[in-house]
Amino acid sequence: MTSKPVAPRAEAVIDLTAIRHNVELLSALAARSGAATMAVVKADGYGHGAVPVAAAALGAGASWLGVCTIAEALQLRAGGITAPILSWLDLPDDDYTPAVAAGVDLGVATIRQLAAVRAAAVAADRPARVHLKIDTGLSRNGATAAEWPDLVVASAKVVAEGLLDVVAVWSHLAHADSPCHPVLDRQAARLDDAWRRAVEIGLRPMRHLANSAATMTRPDLHYDLVRPGIAVYGLDPTGPPPSRFGLRPAMTFRTRVALVKRMPAGEGVSYGHEWVTPVETTLALLPVGYADGVPRRLGSQPSGVGGLRVLLGGRTRPVVGRVCMDQIVVDCGDDPILEGEPAVLFGSGSQGEPTARDWAEALGTIHYEIVTGLRSARVSRTVFDREPLGAT
Ligand SMILES: Cc1ncc(COP(=O)(O)O)c(C=O)c1O
Repeated sequence: MTSKPVAPRAEAVIDLTAIRHNVELLSALAARSGAATMAVVKADGYGHGAVPVAAAALGAGASWLGVCTIAEALQLRAGGITAPILSWLDLPDDDYTPAVAAGVDLGVATIRQLAAVRAAAVAADRPARVHLKIDTGLSRNGATAAEWPDLVVASAKVVAEGLLDVVAVWSHLAHADSPCHPVLDRQAARLDDAWRRAVEIGLRPMRHLANSAATMTRPDLHYDLVRPGIAVYGLDPTGPPPSRFGLRPAMTFRTRVALVKRMPAGEGVSYGHEWVTPVETTLALLPVGYADGVPRRLGSQPSGVGGLRVLLGGRTRPVVGRVCMDQIVVDCGDDPILEGEPAVLFGSGSQGEPTARDWAEALGTIHYEIVTGLRSARVSRTVFDREPLGAT
């Protein structure tokens, strides 16, 4: 007996064609300044799936990948990715040996890290590749200006031992979303000073600084390599959709109607009865809630947040009452809605559905947090590609 394929109860649908389009666009911007492109695929590709996104990005013009942890880098290697990968945030007791053995570049900001990386190079019997990070004004990781001279001198000694390649000097921007903010230029000047210091003692590193926003708006800060993350996924950090740069959002969050029922006027809906049916109406139950990544604050509440809408049966409709752990209720009026019908919570906006940015704005946050927030085991991920098979 063959059973009919059943659509998942909830899924993040990832359009690799959109990823490819966005990376082509970003790497064309970088190439105009002579810079290469590192697609940032940390946090499981911002929730889109690190390995498929990495493969699509590399096929579309990126030549580097960026991740946060060594585990993320090794997951890419295990997925068959051989391109250069930079991993940038580790704990003091992390073992660098598997990363060095796998040819993963490491962000280094302290003498302690440098010693651990040197030990890993000895253990792996190959030179470690590092990007020395200078804190130019974000005050997160990165060496301070006071620590920098010692770090550079110590690195040069390990280079002389044949145990180290200093691939780059790099930093991260604090105000990239405001392209004219004076701190951007100050950070670039500090990066230049740090780089000069490394060059003066004989190192030959590249420089990199720009995230998505700076890749799109500050070509003068592209240096040798740009590191876009959010824009790879089609979410424009410089303004609301549709993106003025032509970025295409790659993630659609959708589910299916679990149950439909006709309700009389005057019935309270969901916990606390924040919403009461004003007239007889049809309610559709969707099997997703805050445990699946639908923030509870998006439901109707006396606080006035809320305003969540879904695309269902050809138009957007309001979610009524509180968002529960596993379910939400949609008011469909007198329209005929079928059980099992698809409902889109957010997507590119091209069919009128809400976007991740709409959710972020209602919540007072950023779209980064929305797309990385679909973490429930009940939300499956479906990756698809409009390109013919074999195309990269
Ligand atoms: C060091 C570093 N570079 C680049 C990026 C990419 O930033 P964005 O997603 O804003 O392009 C990030 C993300 O936070 C990062 O931490």
